[in-house]
Amino acid sequence: MIANTLRRQVSKSVRQLSTSSQNNVKVAVLGASGGIGQPLALLLKHSPMVSHLALYDLAPFTPGVGCDLSHIETIGKVTAHMGPENLDECVKDCSLVLIPAGMPRKPGMTRDDLFNTNASIAMNLADACARNCPEAVLGIITNPVNSTVPIAAEVFKKHGVYNPSKILGVTTLDVVRANTFVAELKGLDVSKTNVPVIGGHSGVTILPLLSQVVPKVSFTDDEIAAMTTRIQNAGTEVVEAKAGAGSATLSMAYAGARFGFSILEAMNGKKGVVECCYRESSITEASYFATPMLLGPGGAEKDLGIGDMTDFEKEKLDELMPELKSNIAKGEKFAADNM
Ligand SMILES: NC(=O)c1ccc[n+]([C@@H]2O[C@H](COP(=O)([O-])OP(=O)(O)OC[C@H]3O[C@@H](n4cnc5c(N)ncnc54)[C@H](O)[C@@H]3O)[C@@H](O)[C@H]2O)c1
Repeated sequence: MIANTLRRQVSKSVRQLSTSSQNNVKVAVLGASGGIGQPLALLLKHSPMVSHLALYDLAPFTPGVGCDLSHIETIGKVTAHMGPENLDECVKDCSLVLIPAGMPRKPGMTRDDLFNTNASIAMNLADACARNCPEAVLGIITNPVNSTVPIAAEVFKKHGVYNPSKILGVTTLDVVRANTFVAELKGLDVSKTNVPVIGGHSGVTILPLLSQVVPKVSFTDDEIAAMTTRIQNAGTEVVEAKAGAGSATLSMAYAGARFGFSILEAMNGKKGVVECCYRESSITEASYFATPMLLGPGGAEKDLGIGDMTDFEKEKLDELMPELKSNIAKGEKFAADNM
């Protein structure tokens, strides 16, 4: 009885959404068998905007993940691709590629500690995308995002197919967390709360702009300091709570799906879709920077900038610059040395 009701609700919403969706939108998840990849793939499979969901991972049970998802009664076709020899086929002709492949943090680790393992993973996956789906939007989740995005950008430049509006670091989880924490503190409706988060995606490089929260809300100086620190350290909160079993996976899958759906909606012609994301930028002296971006058929098409900041926010912006610039330089050097 409950199952039938649920099925009717799902298929009704799928039919309603289908009328506004595009056909033949292939979306790939690279790292699809992991802690983020599986729930992210599940959320994508639920969307009528995705006509083909292609899953890639090195894990031997990847065909099983694909088989499992393929039994869900939504319209998207599911294919599973395991191992490097099947990567090209997975990403061929994709419109959107979401990349959560690679090692997550354990307690005591910074995101930069993942660099040695994850830099080459990001480079190889970006290389396959540049060769097989050069027009796709890439949403890079793999940490350290501050460095993996510049690596992917260098790979696309090498192939002569680089478009800075399409090589994006997914910082949506920082916004999702900021919205949740601010709404809790101020008793707001979280569904109508928006906190812009700029900068990068690690520790002090994450800068929530609490002076620009929608709806307008006021904070004491102590609240601003504590809330800024909590948003910056929220990932570490999860890493410690999981006590060695990894980092955020479910909230990241939600955030990755939110990012992906926003990209697809904008590709389908929806106007006014804005997401904060990390991409090549000329807004500050850092050559990559996250700001709110107006999305369109060409990805993160218009940088909406950082607006008016308070003295506290300006101070934090100055503080984050050395670390962010060093993370970017590290990624670019890796790409130059290894391509
Ligand atoms: N951007 C963010 O906000 C954010 C948030 C949380 C986690 N992360 C990052 O996302 C990444 C994945 O986290 P997770 O918890 O899912 O880790 P996980 O270990 O559970 O899953 C990673 C998956 O990647 C696969 N993989 C490894 N090398 C690969 C390769 N070369 N090609 C394809 N797949 C490969 C593994 O087999 C595994 O299935 C980590 O780097 C983590 O730090 C980012």
